[in-house]
Amino acid sequence: MPTVSINATRLNQSLLDLGRIGATPQGMQRLAFSPDDISARELILALMRQAGMESRIDPGGNIIGRKSGTSSELPAIALGSHIDTVPNGGKYDGALGVLGAIEAVQALTDQKIQLRHPVEVLVFTNEEGTRFHRWLFGSRAMAGLLEDEDRTAVDDDGVSMSDRLAGIGGNMNRVQQAGRGRDELAAYFELHIEQGPILHQSGTPIGVVTGITGRWVYSVEVTGTANHAGTTPMTARHDALVSASRLVLAVQSMASELEICRTGTVGTIQSYTNAVNIIPGRISLGVDFRDVDMDALAAADAEFRSRAAAIARLDGVSIDIQRFENTESVPIKPQMQDLVAAAAASTGLACQRLPSGAGHDAQAMAAITETAMIFVPSVNGVSHAPEEYSTPEDCANGAQVLLNLLLLADQRL
Ligand code: GLV
Ligand code: MN
Ligand code: MN
Repeated sequence: MPTVSINATRLNQSLLDLGRIGATPQGMQRLAFSPDDISARELILALMRQAGMESRIDPGGNIIGRKSGTSSELPAIALGSHIDTVPNGGKYDGALGVLGAIEAVQALTDQKIQLRHPVEVLVFTNEEGTRFHRWLFGSRAMAGLLEDEDRTAVDDDGVSMSDRLAGIGGNMNRVQQAGRGRDELAAYFELHIEQGPILHQSGTPIGVVTGITGRWVYSVEVTGTANHAGTTPMTARHDALVSASRLVLAVQSMASELEICRTGTVGTIQSYTNAVNIIPGRISLGVDFRDVDMDALAAADAEFRSRAAAIARLDGVSIDIQRFENTESVPIKPQMQDLVAAAAASTGLACQRLPSGAGHDAQAMAAITETAMIFVPSVNGVSHAPEEYSTPEDCANGAQVLLNLLLLADQRL
């Protein structure tokens, strides 16, 4: 295997450059399809060009950079991630995987090395699902996993997914053509920050991902009775916010005290009356349960519905629960984990195996190709927040392991 080094200074400079696009005092606001997302995509296209890649945008809006291999029959080895952020997010989630992939190809080009396989860098559309509440759009389009709801989705501003997609060079009418066949890609490798505390706490530079969490997401409507805050006796109320609060606590206790599933989060809440002198009549909540074990999610689903029914009975309100997203957990094959461990060893870095509690484009790509993920430490385990940070050294280590993984895979796949 040739020895090729990434340029750590260049990688960290491009992380800073990308991190300026959409930066605000409240954190990154580079939501998918926003003007900042579009500017960031232009930067990515320029970096791909510099790294000697041909690029194109598929009907799913995914940016695909490609460097040819010496053997025209071999399928490509793909590297990638996403560059959209959550609201008030960080600079590293997704960005490291994309920029680490481009740096790996740039290093090969600089040293005039052409691999046997073509190499592709994939930048997936709308991984986070912000505004549309439908995530992993680009990777699911590529893996042939889009559902009707993805095609007809309308965002919080009333703009259709189809229009948003056209704005970045995609085309909903042809989105099926973003699908890739099993024979087109030999593997997909994603470098990502851990987004949790495990590697930082153990002082381990590299994580080998063993599996990616399953996730069930719900929208919940609690309907009580809006009434005057000053005149309605406390005993005569059907306060939707009080009932919603009991449900929030039920979600917390199901995952923490009862450990029915690994995590349970109520991340969104809307009050439709939303005035201090009205008893809340209608509240909606967004609820997210996660576990790698899908049976645990099924148990959480049953418990959640039964808790909600009990709260509704007790409080005289109605609670409607709709599950609008089911993401299956994805195990990473032991042979692919071993390949990442071998790449870490060839870089001289210690590694630790761990599951991913966050979702990733890799879980969609696993439907059509061999998949592996590399994690690097997140300082204090913070992510989806402005304080998200991974050290320049850890980012460079991750990109070097990604490049070594690519070199190993080029020989073995
Ligand atoms: C995606 O970033 C997630 O919510 O896990
Ligand atoms: Mn994220
Ligand atoms: Mn991410």
